[in-house]
Amino acid sequence: MTTLLEMREITKEFPGVRALDRVSIAVKQGEIHAICGENGAGKSTLMKVLSGVYPTGSYEGEMTFEGEPIAFRDISDSEARGIIIIHQELALVPQLSIAENIFLGNERAKRGVIDWRETNTRTEELLAKVGLKEPPTTKVDAIGVGKQQLVEIAKALSKDVKLLILDEPTAALQENDSRKLLDLMLELKAQGVTCIIISHKLGEVRYVADTVTVIRDGMTVSTLDASEGLSEDRIVRDMVGRDMTHRFPEHHRKPAEVLMEVSGWNAWHPQHAERQVIKNASFTVRRGEVVGIAGVMGSGRTELAMSIFGQSYGRNISGEVKLGGKPVDVSSVDKAIHAGISYVTEDRKSLGLVLDETIRFNTTLAHLEGVSSGGILNRNEETRVAERYRDALNIRTPSVFQKTINLSGGNQQKVVLAKWLNTAPEVLILDEPTRGIDVGAKYEIYTIINELAAEGKGVVMISSEMPELIGMCDRIYVMNEGALVGELAAGEASQEKIMSLIVNE
Ligand SMILES: Nc1ncnc2c1ncn2[C@@H]1O[C@H](COP(=O)(O)OP(=O)(O)OP(=O)(O)O)[C@@H](O)[C@H]1O
Ligand SMILES: [Mg+2]
Repeated sequence: MTTLLEMREITKEFPGVRALDRVSIAVKQGEIHAICGENGAGKSTLMKVLSGVYPTGSYEGEMTFEGEPIAFRDISDSEARGIIIIHQELALVPQLSIAENIFLGNERAKRGVIDWRETNTRTEELLAKVGLKEPPTTKVDAIGVGKQQLVEIAKALSKDVKLLILDEPTAALQENDSRKLLDLMLELKAQGVTCIIISHKLGEVRYVADTVTVIRDGMTVSTLDASEGLSEDRIVRDMVGRDMTHRFPEHHRKPAEVLMEVSGWNAWHPQHAERQVIKNASFTVRRGEVVGIAGVMGSGRTELAMSIFGQSYGRNISGEVKLGGKPVDVSSVDKAIHAGISYVTEDRKSLGLVLDETIRFNTTLAHLEGVSSGGILNRNEETRVAERYRDALNIRTPSVFQKTINLSGGNQQKVVLAKWLNTAPEVLILDEPTRGIDVGAKYEIYTIINELAAEGKGVVMISSEMPELIGMCDRIYVMNEGALVGELAAGEASQEKIMSLIVNE
């Protein structure tokens, strides 16, 4: 097979960080090439160099595409060559329709007037290609992330793509949506489109990739060929630089008395008053216990957590929350935090972080009293606290004065976690805590969860990754269509059992 793309000895520095240190990668025509590496290894940066997000002159090294040298000034430059990148954080405009998004900046027009018929017909063709059954006029904010991802791909296909780059496309997707997307990649490959995919989900990497390049600390560690068999253990070893025989740290938990008790919890949709989103949910969390909530997307898990956490979701909320046997007021976020409940959001972009602020600022934000005395903020104390979490969570950054927007996706997630851990909650609700997090850092996060449990806290863990729930939880509640439909003890939980509880409802 001929080489389509070669990147040679790419070095890219940011103030205080060498994100890439002479990384080389060769991508063959027509293959699916995966890039694996820990959070902050430099994967996204490498793809931003390739696609002209970081223009020529801002990095060192050389690139060739179809045998010719390339050096892009911006992203439109690379798109003109057929190199199209879909970023880790999707870039669609939520208020616009699917068709408008696909042809944004590339409008179908006749004599300066947008030709809507042509736009919609073309959109329908593209949507058919990616297997998305939605009218072109549907607004993007009305469809889920899985479908938005397909819209991004349809948009790429509208531009005559030769090399499609997907940066963690399935991080926010459920298993069946992920599978659809991966199958679409295989289909595009059959049509001759070359793909680069970045993913922390090694099962998916094994499913689609022909070649895997592993990078660690900004350097190429290995290039693995699928025809020689891809083992997850090998990829992990190259990623983290050591063998990792266990994905979950050992724990010896002894859940004690009931710490939190939620009973008869109801909530309605904030806009559609007739839609009951949470239906009479009751559950308990013991001291020293890790309780899981399983369910498919849209089953109401996040809504349950958010409505309990200071009514940050929903209307006409009713039900009771008791902590240590006493009813507590959780009617606002402040009150919920004060009562001892914290919630780590799955969506770091809109709810979790002030991106334009530093790690230090974000870490102490939800618990400023902890770093103040007499109402005055103690900056040194603030720095100390932030540095403690940076070390404990292994947040990769030159200093805690770095703006969180400059952190890699996974490291941003760790700052969100630090922020809520710092509120010293009695009950910590974690919503998809390891989304987009590499295997090594996942292990660190699991270790922290175990420590919290050992200290006698209660942990609620919402996750779409069933192995994670099974590996970490003492008990798992299964949620479906707004109701808790079953409960499994650690010993008896299996992927099949959870699924059958979801399906049987
Ligand atoms: N604009 C920037 N300014 C400063 N540092 C940056 C910037 N962008 C990235 N970095 C740093 O470069 C390193 C590589 O980041 P990159 O986003 O490429 O990691 P990644 O491999 O994609 O990680 P993840 O799996 O978490 O997405 C990190 O240490 C990150 O903090
Ligand atoms: Mg990244």
